[in-house]
Amino acid sequence: MSGTICIVDDEPSILDTLSSILEDERYQVAIAKTGGEALKVIQMEVPDVVLLDIWMPELDGLEVLKRVREQFPHIMVIMMSGHGSVETAVKATKLGAYDYLEKPLDLEKVTILIRNALHQRKLEEENINLRVKIERHSKLVGASSVMETLRQQIAAAAPTHSRVLISGENGTGKELVARAIHLQSPRHNRPFVEVNCAAIPETLIETELFGHERGAFTGAVSQKRGKFDFADGGTLFLDEIGDMSLATQAKVLRVLAEQQFTRIGGEKLIKVNVRVIAASNKDFNQEIEKGNFRDDLFYRLNVLPIEVPPLRARREDIPALTRHFLKIHAEEQGVKLKEITPEALEALARHEWPGNIRELRNQVERLMIMVPKTTIEVGDVLPFMPRGFSRINPLDAYDSLRDARHAFEREYITIRLRENGGNVSKTADDLKIERSHLHRRIKDLNVEFRSGN
Ligand SMILES: Nc1ncnc2c1ncn2[C@@H]1O[C@H](COP(=O)(O)OP(=O)(O)OP(=O)(O)O)[C@@H](O)[C@H]1O
Ligand SMILES: [Mg+2]
Repeated sequence: MSGTICIVDDEPSILDTLSSILEDERYQVAIAKTGGEALKVIQMEVPDVVLLDIWMPELDGLEVLKRVREQFPHIMVIMMSGHGSVETAVKATKLGAYDYLEKPLDLEKVTILIRNALHQRKLEEENINLRVKIERHSKLVGASSVMETLRQQIAAAAPTHSRVLISGENGTGKELVARAIHLQSPRHNRPFVEVNCAAIPETLIETELFGHERGAFTGAVSQKRGKFDFADGGTLFLDEIGDMSLATQAKVLRVLAEQQFTRIGGEKLIKVNVRVIAASNKDFNQEIEKGNFRDDLFYRLNVLPIEVPPLRARREDIPALTRHFLKIHAEEQGVKLKEITPEALEALARHEWPGNIRELRNQVERLMIMVPKTTIEVGDVLPFMPRGFSRINPLDAYDSLRDARHAFEREYITIRLRENGGNVSKTADDLKIERSHLHRRIKDLNVEFRSGN
């Protein structure tokens, strides 16, 4: 791993030895002989790791450490001291030093420690990047009153430990709402564990949820923890719960009632403190009626119901969402952000969006990739629109009731004729009118068709 190391020591021999071995290891090396000089060098080079002597005249190591931590909290500082006292080491660690080396230095130990520090630094950076990414993706965009109500419901549900049942069409943001509740809850530092009940085969779902003991069945070569275990102290998100089998529903119901369970093939009762948030796009009343969903489980889950509205119920959010997704795409793909004209936004806002926000997001991604210009215009948007677009407001196309009626009649007759292979007699029978009457309508309305008789 490459990196820049700054060595700070008032003893020239130490500076010499350390620089030469670290240069051999292909690190960039900077040196400083006093605390004051160290601060200047660090300011200029912003190294990845600082090897810092504790006992130096004037500004000592601990003081330098304090200032480095304030200004550059991401720099890894390793302290060095010949007067190895445990208290100083403890003090340095408390001030945020990564580790502590005793003099005389064991050079092998120095290089190992530096390697570890760089490795940890990289992990921390990756962690921050991931967190930024998650935060960016967890943002609930939209200022419509519908969204405001949703935000209020989230804020009201979050601080409690009550179960939440989120419903809504595909792609409306149910998972996002579940994550938002978790992030605003007192459990936010504990895991958010997701189980997609529709994606896991029926035979595996129980092991997935409850885990199994070693030897529970053929192939269970070691113990496996289940999602209920992993979510202890945190939130378990049961997504697509409407797709869970009745057998599994019975087991989940028991865990919810007792807050404890056993692994498959095990006897030990495992107690957990898990908040369950469930989501589904199914209508539970119907599912219960059909016998697909247990009503007792439904009542247990449905303590705080939250309904996520479809995108078409909050069209005014579409421009903001579009801009948000344009930005995310540009940032994540490292490409230039495209502008979008108000007319194009308006066209997008008029679309029906049966696939809701997920569909909008995919559409925006497509525009970012396929439109070769820097500005997306209405002409770029229309060809990308699926069928729904032309269905938005067909009524606008007609000036009179007569025109509208004729257009409808024409389309209706055309389709029926096509279904009957152009057979007029059969179509007339289907439409429950005389054959001669149908012929007249075909002529008057200019219905185009290929005669089948
Ligand atoms: N209000 C919002 N602001 C920004 N992005 C959103 C919003 N709502 C949803 N999204 C994004 O839309 C996509 C779909 O959301 P999500 O996966 O939460 O939907 P879902 O309701 O769980 O869908 P499904 O029923 O298909 O599982 C995700 O990429 C999500 O980040
Ligand atoms: Mg989902």
